[in-house]
Amino acid sequence: MNTQQEIERRRTFAIISHPDAGKTTLTEKFLLYGGAINTAGSVKGKATAKHAVSDWMEIEKQRGISVTSSVLQFEYGGCCINILDTPGHQDFSEDTYRTLMAADSAVMVIDASKGVEAQTRKLFKVCVMRKIPIFTFINKLDRDALDTFELLDDIEKELGIATVPMNWPIGSGKKFKGVFDRELDQVITYSDTQKGTKEGESTFIDVKDTAALDAILGSEAREKLEGELELLNGAGAEFDLAEVRAGNLTPVFFGSALTNFGVEVFLQHFLKMAMAPSARNSDQGVIDPETHDFSAFVFKIQANMNKAHRDRIAFMRICSGKYEASMEVKHVQENKVMRLSQPQQIMADDRKILDTAYAGDIIGVFDPGIFSIGDTLCMPKENFRYEGIPTFAPEHFARVRLTDTMKRKQFVKGITQIAQEGAIQIFQEVSLGMEEIIVGVVGVLQFDVLKFRLTNEYNVEIVLENLPYEYIRWIENKDEVDFEKLSGTSDMKKILDLKGNPLLLFVNEWSIGMTLDRNKGLKLTEFGRN
Ligand code: G4P
Repeated sequence: MNTQQEIERRRTFAIISHPDAGKTTLTEKFLLYGGAINTAGSVKGKATAKHAVSDWMEIEKQRGISVTSSVLQFEYGGCCINILDTPGHQDFSEDTYRTLMAADSAVMVIDASKGVEAQTRKLFKVCVMRKIPIFTFINKLDRDALDTFELLDDIEKELGIATVPMNWPIGSGKKFKGVFDRELDQVITYSDTQKGTKEGESTFIDVKDTAALDAILGSEAREKLEGELELLNGAGAEFDLAEVRAGNLTPVFFGSALTNFGVEVFLQHFLKMAMAPSARNSDQGVIDPETHDFSAFVFKIQANMNKAHRDRIAFMRICSGKYEASMEVKHVQENKVMRLSQPQQIMADDRKILDTAYAGDIIGVFDPGIFSIGDTLCMPKENFRYEGIPTFAPEHFARVRLTDTMKRKQFVKGITQIAQEGAIQIFQEVSLGMEEIIVGVVGVLQFDVLKFRLTNEYNVEIVLENLPYEYIRWIENKDEVDFEKLSGTSDMKKILDLKGNPLLLFVNEWSIGMTLDRNKGLKLTEFGRN
């Protein structure tokens, strides 16, 4: 297979969901179909084993949750699939957002009994910003679900994206009978399968075969289905692949990941509709993945995966061409030609050294402290930079105090390095100068990570004083605004980031509105640029 063919068969996506919607279960079933694992439960099993044997961050062991995220690669139907795993815990971090910058599409898992939940909403915003296609899997139909029209309405209203159901559920919970497949024009019946088995026993019945449907669904369910389909055909959006790929329309599938119903159909449709790696913007114009030589950008840096070696791993998304072991590449931001040391593919706890990788793939390389989030790598003869990765708005803030002021030097070094890795953001208070540092994080767990790492790696003890702010806004038109004179609500706080950019902290959305009202022409944004 040549490079172009290798790239065309790649599908790189992230799964977004609120914790407990079924992301892990769905991933596991995908891997099962791809033959990457033999029994369901292996994904979780691996994570548990990892806590027991590895020396990944101690805090993972203490909390028993995964702080970091990994990449899963497997083959299915001729495609090479990369699933970018995003931490599923409530306390997710900025890494979760950044992972979406490396994905070409997203699968959104929604619990049929709950509809759109908070976490989905946040991650969804990033997908919208990037205009990547989103495929929806409404899960847990084997449990009592909300009304189907209500679920679709919820997605449209909450997330502002049109929906097109690709199949339609017949009942839910104990009365779940299967789905109507709109493409096949057939009803696919549901039979509860054992948790781990790959195949359930489904029969396919032509929707016009009323007698056969009545025998299986009962006439009441059949009539209800007919009524719903009539409504849907009259009022629902038409399927339009271009709109799906532009991120304006989400195809919706119904199923039950736990009992393996509707998962393989979803995967097959998804692979057909989702795009192979597409062109990305750089300061030298658009870079085509297939015709351009190797290039990549760093989207995540993970420290101390192995404490004994104090190593950092920089995760790169290959955006064009082919990577070959020991080839020379240019690190654009440092203007240095180098060889990437031991590029690896990291699947849960396994690390596999790679000889080749293609656009769409993710590689992790040992980083002796030279990479920053957003850095570009390309061929030595070239010189371009991919668009920076936005800084995502932290939602939790704390003032940091040193317990031993004699250790200020180590403290500044430590906190700056941790900020460079992108785990936290640091700010200074305008009124008080550099003496007071405010830390902002996307998930509160990062506060613990910060404390732990400062103690363990830099021998510095800190005290964190939680602040009431939940909203941060960058000033989009900072050159047109007199920051000092800007007047907001009394609970608004003015801060600066490390580059001296002015920012505002707010306690609630109402204060943001008031501040905008009081300062005509002021433009605020929740994404900063690195
Ligand atoms: P997450 O990664 O999105 O956080 O969710 P995960 O897959 O871990 O699923 C959360 C819980 O929901 C799990 O139950 C899982 O078995 C269950 N679940 C997932 N998909 C379905 C489904 O289609 N139907 C039903 N009925 N349940 C589903 P748990 O009891 O928390 O964990 P476990 O002990 O079963 O592993």
